[in-house]
Order: sequence, then C-alpha cells, then structure tokens
Amino acid sequence: MPVIAVRLAGHDDEPALARIDLATWTAAVSPAPAPVDADAYRFFTDRTVACDVLVAEVDGDVAGWVKVQSPTPLLSHAHVLQIGGLAVDPAHQGAGVGRRLVEAAVQECRRRGARKVTLRVLGPNAAARAVYESCGFQVEGVLREEFLLQDRYVDDVLMARHLTAVP
Ligand SMILES: CC(C)(COP(=O)(O)OP(=O)(O)OC[C@H]1O[C@@H](n2cnc3c(N)ncnc32)[C@H](O)[C@@H]1OP(=O)(O)O)[C@@H](O)C(=O)NCCC(=O)NCCS
Repeated sequence: MPVIAVRLAGHDDEPALARIDLATWTAAVSPAPAPVDADAYRFFTDRTVACDVLVAEVDGDVAGWVKVQSPTPLLSHAHVLQIGGLAVDPAHQGAGVGRRLVEAAVQECRRRGARKVTLRVLGPNAAARAVYESCGFQVEGVLREEFLLQDRYVDDVLMARHLTAVP
C-alpha cells in the first residue's frame, strides 16, 4: 500500500494543484466550464487560499487536494463548514487518497469548531458520491435538474455530515 500523508498546502504547491485540477475538470464533476487557457490557470485565488487547502502526498508526490471553507460569512451560519472542492490525480485514483482527504477535511472542520460539514456534488458523479458516503456523509437534499451540462439536466446533490456525535 502507498504511504499517504496529508498536510496544509503552501504556495509552492501551485503548479501541482493546478495540474491536478486541469486533469480532473470535466462536466461530470463541475458545473463551471473548464479553463480555456490552461497556461493562464491559477489554483490559488481570492476564493481559494492556501490555509483552507489540504494536500495529499503519496510517497512524497502531490496526489490530491481538498478545500474547507465557510459557506457564507453569516454569524448564524458559523457552525457549518463546507468541503468546497476535492480532486485526486488520475494516476493516484482508486488507492484511498480521496477517502483520506475527506477524512482529513472532516477532522479540520472539527478542529475549527464546526457542528456540521456540508458539500454539493453533481448527481452523476458516482465516484465522488461513493467517497463522501464512505466517509459518513448523507444526502440532505436534491436540487433536481439544477444544471444543464452537455445537453443533459443534472441534479445537484446536497450532502452533510453532522459532527455532534462522538467520533
Ligand atoms: C472523486 C475522487 C476524488 C475519488 O478519489 P479516489 O482517490 O479515487 O477515491 P478512493 O480511492 O479514496 O475511494 C474511496 C471510496 O470511494 C469508492 N470509489 C472511488 N471511485 C469510485 C467509482 N468510480 N465508482 C464507485 N465507487 C468509487 C471506493 O471504492 C472507495 O470505497 P470504500 O471507502 O468503501 O472502499 C476522484 O475520482 C476525483 O478526483 N474525481 C474528479 C474530481 C471530483 O469528482 N471531485 C469531487 C467534486 S464534488
């Protein structure tokens, strides 16, 4: 089995994270169109900052990432954190990296004091849904036919894991 380590991202991870994003960005996983100019694509932006991103390394190579963020700036919503992105290098998929990243994200949400972790996943994204379910997330709602992707109306599935129970 490969050795999977998870750590906080740093700005030096930009090229590896951008490469993984571009390699996994399809209409099956994201309602936003893939970047047209791959060379100009930047992983870190105003909305994606290094301190919110966890990186998985397999035998020292960057193999995937997950982002934890607040869904809104509202004080009344502060007990909820969100998984705002997850991707594993195709070369490392199917080896437990995604599961390890989601578990690490949940742990980070717990560390930050969240009572609940939420996320959104496209209905047809079977791989991601399997990972989230395997990590204890349950469907809390479905926005039917929320996106039109490649001539097909696709559901947006809202999932959550409550952290109030003792782990
Ligand atoms: C979704 C993704 C992160 C999964 O990463 P991964 O490293 O391949 O997943 P893992 O190997 O950790 O698998 C975790 C679980 O999901 C299951 N799983 C993974 N891929 C699957 C697939 N294609 N179909 C069914 N189940 C799958 C595994 O069997 C495993 O189940 P278990 O924990 O019960 O043994 C990866 O496929 C990916 O990067 N996809 C593109 C980006 C994406 O969809 N991001 C999510 C956006 S919401």
